[in-house]
Amino acid sequence: MVLWYAKFKMKRKGVTAVFGRQRTQVIAHRGSKGTRPENTLIAFQAALDAGADGIETDVQLSRDHQMVIMHDEQVDRTTNGTGNVRDLTLAQLKALDAGQHFAPEYADTRIPTLDEVIQLLLRNQFTGIFNLELKTNKFPYPGIEQQLAAYFQQQPVPFRLVFSSFRAQSLVTLRGLYPQAEYAKLFQTASRQAKKMQRLHQVADLHPDIRWVKAHRFWLPHVQLRPWTVNSSADMTYCFKHHFAGIITDYPAQAVRLRRQIQGESDSWKKS
Ligand code: G3P
Ligand code: MG
Repeated sequence: MVLWYAKFKMKRKGVTAVFGRQRTQVIAHRGSKGTRPENTLIAFQAALDAGADGIETDVQLSRDHQMVIMHDEQVDRTTNGTGNVRDLTLAQLKALDAGQHFAPEYADTRIPTLDEVIQLLLRNQFTGIFNLELKTNKFPYPGIEQQLAAYFQQQPVPFRLVFSSFRAQSLVTLRGLYPQAEYAKLFQTASRQAKKMQRLHQVADLHPDIRWVKAHRFWLPHVQLRPWTVNSSADMTYCFKHHFAGIITDYPAQAVRLRRQIQGESDSWKKS
């Protein structure tokens, strides 16, 4: 009993020490997904304008091996087309409307390529966090890791690159080719593999489902946590009060306002 209590106290102490007093980064999930058509240039610009510290987005390959920004493996939910991203060429994907589903005023919005997103960030002089999720857990998209490494080798960026994935092998492969980036393991409940990867220094950060975080709130691992998708005021407040490394949210403007109340004014990557 005494030993158990001592271990409990040590764990609690460790958790407190790890969370420290760092400022929690607000990372916009698929752009400002709650207020704009997800994963479009409009959504990313809205997130930057809202003062987000970072952008999270998802990359897949088209049939002609172009790196495109899309969450689902199919285009059906977010466009007026049907079928798998991997079965459509870039020209076919570009012919689709990716805004109308969200609201008529966004009709004619297009699916962006990765390069179009990077160029938008460069034009905005963005120096925050760019969290690119490799959507390789359903279709592995062979070669996507090599393409990403080659792209970022020829296109240096002034912002912090964080690659994440539910698929461990994608992270291990890309890290071998491009070690200068930061790596994060995504998980819903499979924390054992994620924690092992962190122990082996294959990833620096963990990006868990917020529901897993809340279910393990007294036993969280001693690493940088950026949970998703943190949308309610209660969840945001919990993460800000515990000074997590970051939150990934559909509502960056609301999160920035709430963080100001809880953690005070912040230095943004924005100059003015
Ligand atoms: O990266 C956080 C989050 O995007 C992971 O889930 O399905 O929204 O890509 P999903
Ligand atoms: Mg994602």
